[in-house]
Amino acid sequence: MTMIAYVNGSYAPMRDAQVSIEDRGYQFSDGIYEVCLCIAGRYWDFDGHLTRMERSLRELRMDAPMSRDALQIVMGQLVRRNGLKDALVYIQATRGVAPRNHVFPPADTPTALVMTAKRFDLDGSDAIAAKGVGVITQPDIRWGRADIKSISLLPNLLAKQAAKDVGAAEAWLVRDGAVTEGSSSNAWIVDRDGALVTHPKGFEILGGITRETALSCAAELQIKVHERAFTVAEARDASEAFITSATNLVMPVITIDGAPVGNGAPGPVALRLREAYKLRARQA
Ligand code: PDD
Repeated sequence: MTMIAYVNGSYAPMRDAQVSIEDRGYQFSDGIYEVCLCIAGRYWDFDGHLTRMERSLRELRMDAPMSRDALQIVMGQLVRRNGLKDALVYIQATRGVAPRNHVFPPADTPTALVMTAKRFDLDGSDAIAAKGVGVITQPDIRWGRADIKSISLLPNLLAKQAAKDVGAAEAWLVRDGAVTEGSSSNAWIVDRDGALVTHPKGFEILGGITRETALSCAAELQIKVHERAFTVAEARDASEAFITSATNLVMPVITIDGAPVGNGAPGPVALRLREAYKLRARQA
């Protein structure tokens, strides 16, 4: 079945869906995006994703393409038209279509909006989680505003590809000796006292929505958390490691640069958190 996309006010089969070559997203990466989940027909962590999206737009001085309520309606339509119940929805907003010029286009240029949806299975990554994944470390060469969910992702792509090239699932980005986050996920370790350690929110990382929910699950499970930077050496010496993102949920990490973390198997804390997270997503 051909999937249906939403493009600037219309629904169209993917193969017919088009944007202008003068879309500023295409020419300048001048835009932002969100990836969120729909579980059993309901939006999961919707407010978190929409609040972050509105913040990304504000920080880049872009107008919202439509109200939150309207966006929710389009999302619902897209999921339904694609015959989905559990879905991963991609939302991209760019600073519209205008002749190429670094200066912003006229204020009345509408923000362009594209949305796609695909099937998502909350249990789909369970087999991978049971084995755990490997990460490698890469220098964090991104700009100073990693907190904005910009579509400008070249450093992230280079890091992810470097990981893929050596059979790893993710690259952990390292700045000034500290792990900031993954190329498309937040990075966590479990220290020798069983406490979670993850980089604090700030300009250096994307404030993951899964990260927020994982923090809340940790509080519920009475697991201690330190929101502070950790070094690669600390990560190598940790008892566990894991990553979080909308697509990975909570995913155990078993090797860093090929060296085992802890006993080299998915850790109990990461697996407990994953279960707690999935339970919340189902009950939302
Ligand atoms: N990536 N950090 C980065 C750099 C990310 O790209 C992502 C998400 C996250 C986790 O954010 P969240 O928990 O809200 O998904 C952290 C998405 C999934 C992507 O680019 O496909």
